[in-house]
Amino acid sequence: MTHFDIIPVDPNDHALVQSWLAVHEAVDAHDRSGTRPLAFVHTWAPLVIGGNDARRERWAAVCDGRVLGYLALTVPVLDNTHLLNFDLGVHPDERRRGVGSALLRHMEERAAAEGRTTVSSWVPVPVEGGAPVSADGGHFAVHKGYQRSLEGAVRACDLDAVDEAAIDRLWKSAWERAEGFELITFAGGSPAELLDGIAYLHARMYTDMPLGDWDLQEAVVDGERILDGERVRRQRGELHLQAVVRHKESGRVAGLTEIIVDAGSEEHCVQGDTIVDPDFRGHRLGTILKIANQRAVREWRPKMRYVWTGNATSNSHMIAINESVGYRLVCHENVFQKKLSQ
Ligand SMILES: CC(C)(COP(=O)(O)OP(=O)(O)OC[C@H]1O[C@@H](n2cnc3c(N)ncnc32)[C@H](O)[C@@H]1OP(=O)(O)O)[C@@H](O)C(=O)NCCC(=O)NCCS
Repeated sequence: MTHFDIIPVDPNDHALVQSWLAVHEAVDAHDRSGTRPLAFVHTWAPLVIGGNDARRERWAAVCDGRVLGYLALTVPVLDNTHLLNFDLGVHPDERRRGVGSALLRHMEERAAAEGRTTVSSWVPVPVEGGAPVSADGGHFAVHKGYQRSLEGAVRACDLDAVDEAAIDRLWKSAWERAEGFELITFAGGSPAELLDGIAYLHARMYTDMPLGDWDLQEAVVDGERILDGERVRRQRGELHLQAVVRHKESGRVAGLTEIIVDAGSEEHCVQGDTIVDPDFRGHRLGTILKIANQRAVREWRPKMRYVWTGNATSNSHMIAINESVGYRLVCHENVFQKKLSQ
């Protein structure tokens, strides 16, 4: 077995950071081929800029100054303090030599030291006819005693291939069901008068979204937390496009959706939360929100081509809306989870 040490990634250690980023790139090319390409800034930025909702740790398995594998830990501090989420990867040329096992052991030790009882990770899984993603992560997780706790599906919308005439028809018929609601779209910070309503709906994501057996519990999301998230996006140079529908009579925020564009990304962006308040469901608000934001992203970034999204495979309503506005299945991505004995 190769000798290596597991060390924290010091953002000021240029050679270490370069080697660490190169392993992310190699893993991405090998294991997530045909999915959203990794933006360098997406990996790098959390090293130096993070929100108040969690502590973030970045570790590297290093041999003679060369990074063999990486481990990222997200340790929630505002809620879900029983949980630790992680991501780990080993350079394709360095696999089956115990590096992944050592990083996993390190993660579990850190989790225990932080008093966490559940650890979980999102792992790509190939589907027939989909992108050639690798099955290595899923095999490894099962071998290590992790349970598949949530089955998710990754879809992409190719904005060039969208049938605009069909979308126009969908848009018009959706508005026929949405009398009494108004649409507000904006980039960047949330308007003050919408902040509490937006926070309320983001909190509901934790309880309304199908979660399978994933041990994600209710979250505390208030206006302050939303503003902190917006600060982080601004500092990372992300474009944050939001669409909100408001119930005109009551003034309540009835639904929202968001798209995030990494700094410098012109071709790929990612869908964030989408939710309609249960009090206002059945008015085609989900469809209106998705179409509005899809159009907004092209206005802000005319060269934008692909919007990526992930949903629980059981989330049939959201998936039906996504398919209707042009999303197509690319692969699966499952949550693998383990309960640590105390
Ligand atoms: C998953 C991953 C981190 C494993 O790294 P690794 O350094 O090869 O892991 P190890 O050498 O410690 O493997 C330990 C054991 O896990 C099992 N295992 C690892 N990869 C496997 C695979 N592709 N198929 C079947 N079993 C596998 C084996 O039993 C292996 O022991 P063995 O080599 O003696 O048979 C690596 O394949 C990877 O980076 N994948 C892409 C990222 C990813 O999916 N991460 C999610 C991790 S939960």
